[in-house]
Amino acid sequence: MKIIDGRETARQIKEEIKAEVAAIIDSGKDSPHLAAVLVGDDPASQTYIGGKEKACNEVGIISSVYRLPAITTEKEVLELVDFLNNDDQVDGFIVQLPLPDHIDENKIIQRIRPEKDVDGFHPVNVGRMALNLPAYISATPFGIIELIKRYHIETEGKHVVVLGRSHIVGTPVSILLSRKTNPGNATVTLCHSKTKNLADVARTADILIVALGQKEFVTADMVKKDAVVIDVGIHRVPSDEAKSGYKLVGDVKFDKVSRKASFITPVPGGVGPMTIVSLLSNTLKAARKEIYS
Ligand code: GUN
Repeated sequence: MKIIDGRETARQIKEEIKAEVAAIIDSGKDSPHLAAVLVGDDPASQTYIGGKEKACNEVGIISSVYRLPAITTEKEVLELVDFLNNDDQVDGFIVQLPLPDHIDENKIIQRIRPEKDVDGFHPVNVGRMALNLPAYISATPFGIIELIKRYHIETEGKHVVVLGRSHIVGTPVSILLSRKTNPGNATVTLCHSKTKNLADVARTADILIVALGQKEFVTADMVKKDAVVIDVGIHRVPSDEAKSGYKLVGDVKFDKVSRKASFITPVPGGVGPMTIVSLLSNTLKAARKEIYS
């Protein structure tokens, strides 16, 4: 069994991005600029935004964060999106999800100009991705594909089973791996809450991607010997061993499943660190106007 080291891969990609940002600056152009909108005080969102700011600083990307109170109206968020759409200083921006209940997420996402939608959530980017046209690919699926690439994991002709059909992970990763590309060319089964005999389906996977959001859901009996297991889940559980009083676990029971898998991503240190570097990579593409030229 081989551990897929997302932390080390993310570190390498950050170095690559840093060199590319330096080259942009050396050529006399402005540093790439990523903006983020955070509405309310969801702790997970604050952590993500903090991580994003830190990563931007490390590679030389300008980062700005618009922090708005939870009572901000939908109209005010739309106005900020319009402002950022038209701000030539900003190459790309994200609106952190989830938004408070009184704000319609779809309405906000659809207001972002696709050219600046470095999260790849706008229907134009999702559609372009599905059609294999240049598009911003959202951060977590992009990170998963990058790990598959850098670990030389063959996907062509393989059976990929994706557990979970979220718009952020399951649906896009299933589209990406079924495309006529490399990585891609896989036969993909997308499982969800209405799937019958999910464990039986999971057991047929050469590559199992788990993005259900259920703590340690996948057990060793659900995994074929020598399968590749990608765990997208992240959960805090109380732990006496850790100084903080908690530890992080994924959607996969790592100890047992890792004995059966050929490759596996740990939690923490697997998919997670790849997410933010994927956003940096999309910001670089935005600054170079690579996707929409
Ligand atoms: N919430 C959880 N993941 C993400 C992400 O990748 N982007 C945004 N905007 N919100 C999120």
